[in-house]
Amino acid sequence: MKLYVIVSLWALVTITHQIKTQDNCVCEFISSEKPFPYDKLKMMQDSASNCNNLMSPQKAFGLESLLLGLNRRLPQLEDDVEMLEKEDDGELYGVLSLYVIENELTEIQAMIDKLNSSTSEHKRLGDDTAQKLEDVKEKMEELETFDAMQVMKKQQANQRLKRDLDQCRNGGLHPRPQPTKHTEGTCPHGRFLNVTGPRVFTTGEYPGSYKYGAWGRDPKPEEGKESWHWLVMLTSSNIYAHYVRFYSTLSSIIVGVSTPGNVLIHPSNPTTNTIQGPNVVLYGGALYYNCYNKDAVCRFNLTTKSITTLQLPKGTRYNSKANFCHLDECYVFTDLDLITDESGVWVVYTTNQDFGNLVLSKVEEEENQLLSLGQTWRTSFPKSSVTNTFMVCGVLYATRYVDKNLEEIFYSFDTTTGKENLNVGIFIDKMSPNILSLNYSPLDQMLYAYCDSKLVSYEVLFEKRSNFYL
Ligand SMILES: *[C@@H]1O[C@H](CO)[C@@H](O)[C@H](O)[C@H]1NC(C)=O
Ligand SMILES: *[C@@H]1O[C@H](CO)[C@@H](O)[C@H](O)[C@H]1NC(C)=O
Ligand SMILES: *[C@@H]1O[C@H](CO)[C@@H](O)[C@H](O)[C@H]1NC(C)=O
Repeated sequence: MKLYVIVSLWALVTITHQIKTQDNCVCEFISSEKPFPYDKLKMMQDSASNCNNLMSPQKAFGLESLLLGLNRRLPQLEDDVEMLEKEDDGELYGVLSLYVIENELTEIQAMIDKLNSSTSEHKRLGDDTAQKLEDVKEKMEELETFDAMQVMKKQQANQRLKRDLDQCRNGGLHPRPQPTKHTEGTCPHGRFLNVTGPRVFTTGEYPGSYKYGAWGRDPKPEEGKESWHWLVMLTSSNIYAHYVRFYSTLSSIIVGVSTPGNVLIHPSNPTTNTIQGPNVVLYGGALYYNCYNKDAVCRFNLTTKSITTLQLPKGTRYNSKANFCHLDECYVFTDLDLITDESGVWVVYTTNQDFGNLVLSKVEEEENQLLSLGQTWRTSFPKSSVTNTFMVCGVLYATRYVDKNLEEIFYSFDTTTGKENLNVGIFIDKMSPNILSLNYSPLDQMLYAYCDSKLVSYEVLFEKRSNFYL
């Protein structure tokens, strides 16, 4: 009783004393434990996550694809040089081939430099990270001695749970790029097996007049235009065009009678928004093409005659700096290849930062009818070593020139798995040496090719269809 009174009296004195001086109340908690140094733990966590960022898997991946790229290009260069030695006639042919080889050499040098600098950087990072990890380990041991309240253990358990949860969500150890949604379920015919034909071969309305151009059928036609075929010829310098020519049926394009006639982009040629280069495509009532003097895709709405532009990334090569080539010839102003598959429109191009390797991007249409660049895939194969590309069901295919009668579909890149295949081995019988544009139409499963002014089409054979007939 006596003790109780004394204690409360003392408390009262303390409190009134404090109220007088600072207008608030302070209670002191005294524990025999030392306080846990949260600030140190926070510091540790920060340096650990720094370490993580330094050693990101993207960095390792960058190195891997550089090496893969070099691996691909060296044998290609060897082949090219060998071919040149065999066939050099000392004339124009040799000059062109030398030009291709010189390009190859420049790009290989650039890759080696990049590889050298990233290897040195990796070594520096490695040393740096090892030192940091050592520091972290020491500090952690120190902190553990403070861990009377099990703070660390709980945090560790939480982190493990969180990691498990993330893994569950991502469906595996490594987050993978999202596969394109369309690929499964919309490949109605199964695997792409072979190409037969030609099915259609015509010299068209202007036999022999325009070496460069493109033709085809809109895979997503507007109502009433289902059987229309379109034709774009590069009427100025084999580089520029300013109109799309329409034919109401296949037979009218074969006999060369254009009923709906031309839809003009602009009366002058070339000028802003002129079509530049042959690899254009019609989709959903609009023409997609490389616009004049720009590293950009243009979409020309055939109904409203309005143009929407999609700027490609910085470093994109244009104005005939990254063409499709074979040893005899580079096809001028083929920097951008617009192509269609079941899912819509894609653009194939290359950039300085990709060392001239094929890059593939989805062209997405926004709600407000603007265009945006969708998901992008980088390959390890040089654009200058292929003659054209097309896309079937989310798989990119590339061709090469074998001889004047034969073109080979030799390469594929699957956007679902990221796998490249250099042994596709499907051959196309040509009616003319050069294929200046090539595109797949999912509407009729045909390949449309424009070859030195001739219009040719081929039928694509799929797994399911051939099984059906077997
Ligand atoms: C790699 O880089 C170092 C300096 O960073 C340089 O001394 C060396 O010559 C380079 N090697 C090659 C093969 O370019
Ligand atoms: C592809 O078709 C061609 C002729 O159309 C034929 O000669 C060739 O054997 C076929 N290739 C395969 C792998 O079926
Ligand atoms: C063309 O413009 C019309 C009118 O604005 C629009 O309805 C149509 O979707 C457009 N087509 C394309 C392919 O953008």
